[in-house]
Amino acid sequence: MKAPLHDLETLYTSALQDHVANPEEAVLQRAYELGRKALDDGLGVLEMAALYHKALVKLLSGPRAPEKSVRLVQGAEIFFVESLAPFEMTHRAVREANTALRQLNERLEEEAKRIAHSLHEETGQFLACTYLALDEIRRDLPPPSRVRLQKVGDLLEQIGKHLRQLSHELRPTILDDYGLLPALEFLAEGISKRSRLKISVQGPNHGRLPSSVETTLYRIVQEALTNVGKHARATTVNVRLRQDPRVIRCSITDDGVGFGLPAVTARKKHRGLGLTGIRQRLDGLGGTLQIDSKRGRGTQMLISIPLKD
Ligand SMILES: Nc1ncnc2c1ncn2[C@@H]1O[C@H](COP(=O)(O)OP(=O)(O)O)[C@@H](O)[C@H]1O
Ligand SMILES: [Mg+2]
Repeated sequence: MKAPLHDLETLYTSALQDHVANPEEAVLQRAYELGRKALDDGLGVLEMAALYHKALVKLLSGPRAPEKSVRLVQGAEIFFVESLAPFEMTHRAVREANTALRQLNERLEEEAKRIAHSLHEETGQFLACTYLALDEIRRDLPPPSRVRLQKVGDLLEQIGKHLRQLSHELRPTILDDYGLLPALEFLAEGISKRSRLKISVQGPNHGRLPSSVETTLYRIVQEALTNVGKHARATTVNVRLRQDPRVIRCSITDDGVGFGLPAVTARKKHRGLGLTGIRQRLDGLGGTLQIDSKRGRGTQMLISIPLKD
């Protein structure tokens, strides 16, 4: 159960006092357990530092010889470091999980690339062959049957279009072949057609970025535009890329209904994975996401990713 902060302060001060009087392993163990409890209760490192500071001020308040005060502070420091150990372990675990997630994302992208390629090239070729075979049959048929066969041909063409669209959504070959800006323009065009949103894409079109950066930004803009279509009730969206030698920035601005980020984060049900996914993708590259949104005043998402020299 979550202990009130005040209780934790009392526990911390009394354990620290015991440790200073009797610096044994068993007492130090209490520092570790207190750290775990604080972590479970949702406290952060800054609150732990404040807790330590308050406890230390209390313990130092009485009169004592300077060398005793020095020993007290030294003992308290050991206790403090031990109480932070659970935070350090959690931090490392999160870093490892992030690395694993990044590798998983890369594997999924590779897989998407493979399936998209197969869908586009191989299935496309089969369809083209079927189309040619049908055309040959059509020529040998009397006119009324030709019309009926033409309908089959039209359906095949629609299947082909649908497969090409699916393949592009899975992994746009344009991203691999021509880079981020053309891929974003193509994405915006597809979404505009389907949703009647007016989307403009602006940015520099010189040179290529590292593939991981291009893929990450493409997926983020894809999710952001999907969100605009799903939630914003907007009429226009601007996607802007700006690049300098050390950083690439991308903003996605819509004129929709906006939302309160704290309320979305605090939601118990249906929290959604889109924004979380965006943050996790960015973590893997040392990037950041800033969301500026207010109810009734649209939303702006600002992404920045450092570029290595
Ligand atoms: N551009 C936007 N305009 C309005 N609301 C948004 C926008 N983007 C996100 N939201 C809000 O943030 C929530 C979380 O988004 P997300 O994490 O992508 O989950 P999901 O799209 O699955 O709901 C959405 O449910 C929506 O309420
Ligand atoms: Mg979403």
